[in-house]
Amino acid sequence: MRRGQIFRVLRAAGLIGGVPWVVLLALMLGGALEWRAGLLAILACSIGALGLARIWIGNLAGLADSLRRAAAEDGRLVPPSTTPLLPAVAEISDGVARLARTLAERAELVGRMRRADEAIVETLPDPLLVLSPARLPLRANAAARALFGVGPGRGSVAGAGDIAALLRHPVLAAAVDRALAEQRAQTADLVLPVPVLREIAAQVIPMEPALADGGRIVILLSDRSRERAVERMRADFVANASHELRTPLASLIGFIETLRGPAEDDPAARQRFLGIMAEQSERMQRLIDDLLGLSRIALTEHQPPTGRAVLAAIAQAEAEALEPLFRSRGITLTQALDDAAVAAPADAEQLAQVVRNLLENAVRHGREGGQVQLSAGPGGRQGGREGVMLAVSDDGPGIPREHIPRLTERFYRVDTGRSRRAGGTGLGLAIVKHIVNRHRGQLHIDSEEGQGATFRVWLPAEQR
Ligand SMILES: Nc1ncnc2c1ncn2[C@@H]1O[C@H](COP(=O)(O)OP(=O)(O)O)[C@@H](O)[C@H]1O
Ligand SMILES: [Mg+2]
Repeated sequence: MRRGQIFRVLRAAGLIGGVPWVVLLALMLGGALEWRAGLLAILACSIGALGLARIWIGNLAGLADSLRRAAAEDGRLVPPSTTPLLPAVAEISDGVARLARTLAERAELVGRMRRADEAIVETLPDPLLVLSPARLPLRANAAARALFGVGPGRGSVAGAGDIAALLRHPVLAAAVDRALAEQRAQTADLVLPVPVLREIAAQVIPMEPALADGGRIVILLSDRSRERAVERMRADFVANASHELRTPLASLIGFIETLRGPAEDDPAARQRFLGIMAEQSERMQRLIDDLLGLSRIALTEHQPPTGRAVLAAIAQAEAEALEPLFRSRGITLTQALDDAAVAAPADAEQLAQVVRNLLENAVRHGREGGQVQLSAGPGGRQGGREGVMLAVSDDGPGIPREHIPRLTERFYRVDTGRSRRAGGTGLGLAIVKHIVNRHRGQLHIDSEEGQGATFRVWLPAEQR
């Protein structure tokens, strides 16, 4: 027993035995009680009081211990004491044990909820930063760490250069100021020049009350770079399409004026001009057809085809339909078609469009009087799937290497003037690419300058 405890026991014993002692003493002094019997009674009374005080103080100390443990909320109970328990204390002690268990369960629940919260924040697809009241980064979730190239763990967050640079960005800093001053969420659009140019939309949300880890500001970022690139591409596309339409239209308007004025009485000129006008109108028509085709295909690109396509039959039909075009350029077509090559799931109509576009290109961009080869056959395995291959090759001027990766962009041509004169719209390969994508296929373009070009389309084969 410690000294403090001894004093406490003595004081309690004094309290318990005090009144009987005084009464006994008074009786002895008044002669009502004999001295020896009185002293004996006082001794017995003291021993009784001491014993009782010890049990009482021991019980109370045990209770205090149990309460302290309950407050720690760790669910560990004080082992039952060896001293006998006073009846009332035993009841309280039971209550304390129950309280301790409830508190521990609740603490465990709160802990689990906090862990779930952290897991949600961590796996949120959008980058998220949590800042302290001093605006230092406390936490960055996985997406934010990936965006800024920071390794895992909290320690590395504060020192991460790119995050620090982001937080210093004047637009974001101003949004944080506003959010704290007005206690309302703010948005900010930023452009981060390093390490790669990024356009980011930030949402700054003040936290009142603060988060469990002391976070006062949550910054939600979304990388808009891709979206903006798509927007720019769309705008470019509209500009290109209008430009492509405007040129033949301007020429038509010009000829109409000439026919109404200076060439009114010149039948030979009129004939010639009408010929050019017909050509320009056809060009506009082709362009509109291709634009419509492209938008239709782009719409269904995410919806895989459902039918099957016998490549040899499709290739044969398209080759026959283009016979006059081949003849006009003195080109000989050789075919190597394997009847067993069946693509599925596939859209036969769209694959016919692919063959048509590739054959037209081989004629238009190939060599006058040259050779074009059309083949269909087995395509080998790709990505664990058996495939079939369609290929068109020519012996024309070919394509300079640096242009190859961009050929499937809308309106991209190696030589715009030549393509237009050849009747091209610049959309053929873009259409091919979309169709191939929809079929989960691959388009390969091989070419060496002066050695011709080969376009190969790999498609998933029908599974038997
Ligand atoms: N077989 C080929 N040989 C050489 N160049 C080609 C061939 N096929 C396509 N190209 C190049 O790719 C460009 C894009 O083709 P495409 O999208 O079909 O447009 P278009 O044929 O209307 O010009 C063509 O303008 C041409 O420069
Ligand atoms: Mg073309």
